[in-house]
Amino acid sequence: MNKNKAQERISKLRELINDYRYHYHVLDESIMSEAAADSLKHELTQLETEYPDLITPDSPTQRVAGTPLAAFKAIPHSRRMLSLNDVFDDKELDSWVARITKLLPAGTSLEYFTDLKMDGFACALVYQDGMLTQAITRGDGIVGEDVTANVRTIDSVPLRLREGNKDSHKFLAGRTEVRGEIVMYKADFARLNQQRAQQGLPLFANPRNTAAGTIRQLDSRLVSERKLHFRAYDLLRDDSTEVPTNAFAYQTLRELGLLANPQVTTVKSVKEIIKFARVWETKRHDLPFNTDGLVIKINDRNLFERLGIVGKAPRGAVAYKYPAEQATTKVKDIFVSIGRTGSATPVAMLEPVVVAGSTVQMATLHNEGEVMRKDIRIGDTVIVHKAGDIIPEVIEPLVKLRDGSEREFVMPAECPECGTKLIKLKADEAVWRCPNNQCPSRVWKRIQHYASKAALDIEGLGEKNVIALLNAGLVTETPDIYALTKEQVLGLDRFAEISATKLVSAIQSKKNPPLPKFLYGLGIRHIGVQTAIDLSAHFRSLDALGRATIDDLSQVEGIGEVVAEALVEWFAEPGNQRILDLFARYGVKPQEVKKVGGPLSGKSFVVTGSLETMSRDQAAEKIRALGGTFQSSVGKDTNYLVVGANVGASKLTKAAKLGTKQLTEQELLKLLDK
Ligand code: IVH
Repeated sequence: MNKNKAQERISKLRELINDYRYHYHVLDESIMSEAAADSLKHELTQLETEYPDLITPDSPTQRVAGTPLAAFKAIPHSRRMLSLNDVFDDKELDSWVARITKLLPAGTSLEYFTDLKMDGFACALVYQDGMLTQAITRGDGIVGEDVTANVRTIDSVPLRLREGNKDSHKFLAGRTEVRGEIVMYKADFARLNQQRAQQGLPLFANPRNTAAGTIRQLDSRLVSERKLHFRAYDLLRDDSTEVPTNAFAYQTLRELGLLANPQVTTVKSVKEIIKFARVWETKRHDLPFNTDGLVIKINDRNLFERLGIVGKAPRGAVAYKYPAEQATTKVKDIFVSIGRTGSATPVAMLEPVVVAGSTVQMATLHNEGEVMRKDIRIGDTVIVHKAGDIIPEVIEPLVKLRDGSEREFVMPAECPECGTKLIKLKADEAVWRCPNNQCPSRVWKRIQHYASKAALDIEGLGEKNVIALLNAGLVTETPDIYALTKEQVLGLDRFAEISATKLVSAIQSKKNPPLPKFLYGLGIRHIGVQTAIDLSAHFRSLDALGRATIDDLSQVEGIGEVVAEALVEWFAEPGNQRILDLFARYGVKPQEVKKVGGPLSGKSFVVTGSLETMSRDQAAEKIRALGGTFQSSVGKDTNYLVVGANVGASKLTKAAKLGTKQLTEQELLKLLDK
């Protein structure tokens, strides 16, 4: 980027980051996620590194955050409340250790104290002779706000320190300061939002902002209604030698009646830190509160002090951050992808960016309407979200970063794969479709779907191999895979003796699939895993299902008009009959089903948010095993909405409207225990 362009981009980035910071720190509002803002800040830092003379003292890269609100009394901190520098991977952790080792006398043996990094709101509690006298927010680290009246309402904050053991006794005399994080538990947050949805109030964004907003309420009665928790991570005395190590600090905090995370360890090597980090990277999702990484501190507080401070962070501690689930990047282009059922989905091609630990280059834009609603343009800088194994999504464009070169997306009139005119099945439908059943993209995705894990689960028949088979003309429709011989497969570049034998036998071993898997594998529109199970349980054979009328289908619990129509249409289409004939000719015969019943039969469930004791898929499996139905969205026929943590608004609102019974995870577990 040339200097003029860089200057322009830099000022736009600064403005937007400042906007974000003002909303976040002063108004307790969030205009984008922290990860997205970090991503913008990262871009700004890079540009400023490239053009150092463009750095100004007021750049967001050069300042310390937070201005105390005027409504609370400002109180100076006894010692600065520091931030932590972040490390993002094992290599950066190694360099941190190398850096501090060099600063200490040769041969100093280091111990590291590791804790979870809680995603909450930092607060200092001051105890005089054992009595709580003040609670102060972090503020800008030097001066905070007096929130004592509010913090006194938090159950986990002792108003008077406990006597504890003989080591902790002296902390009851004189001034003792406890620092820690105020957090709202995921389950309490979900419940709060659930109530708000029922009352038609706007929902809160996340537990951290809610905790922060709650603590800075001027009316402390409101605070006491919301459940907050204080988890301590630091203990300070005027004479710092009274707290020799962090391990001692945590032990003493507990003796004094405070909650300090039990998940801490004291280790001697980077290898052990990394082991701890790996364990908690997945286990943290089961904790009652949100964590975004670990805090690693030099255990010996004297060494910690000696290492000193750079800027606003100590040298002797770092935050080891887990990969962010959001980032910003540019939309290079928008193309249209044709799915198995002909759906034409706009997909954003992105400048590669790492999100949640993997590189993202594409993100679905769902449909034309969604692109318009979000106003996503080619050339826009956008926020991308990806969590766990979900498909990357574009959250929103950063409109303020536009420079006029962005182009609007125009939905093509014809299928980009086969040139057939795109249609809408119903005028009010959001999705355009390619109606050509033989469209190469549709055939390819149909075969791939048939072979996928949730359907027939044919090993070795992934995307690339399917394309190779199609290109070689060895298959033109799904059933053709059953006629493949080892010799034919061997003729393809991608295969050798063993892989060809394996593929052919993998295919042949799937000639008598369970009916629900086969039915799902056909890739009929609206027939998901659960619907396939319900239909199979009712009709027991493919023949019976093929003969069913809309009326017959409507008898089945959970089958609505849309699904019934899609099925009847599918069986009526001559091309599909030909496919079924071919399957039969090649000897493919799905197994018929015996009827299942169970304690949950006739009951349907939807899960919103994340559960603490199991994944959503595991929940679905357990519910189905007991005869229940698992649905992906709330409808009139939904019996229960199970509300987990970090829930979005839509399912709650819908359930509230329909009067669907809501269950907590605990209540679900009780039902599953039957
Ligand atoms: S120790 C010298 N331990 O993260 C700094 N901080 O980004 C002492 N935080 O200001 C901080 N969990 O508000 C520490 N287990 C933990 C923490 C933790 C969350 C917060 C804290 C700190 C910020 C730094």
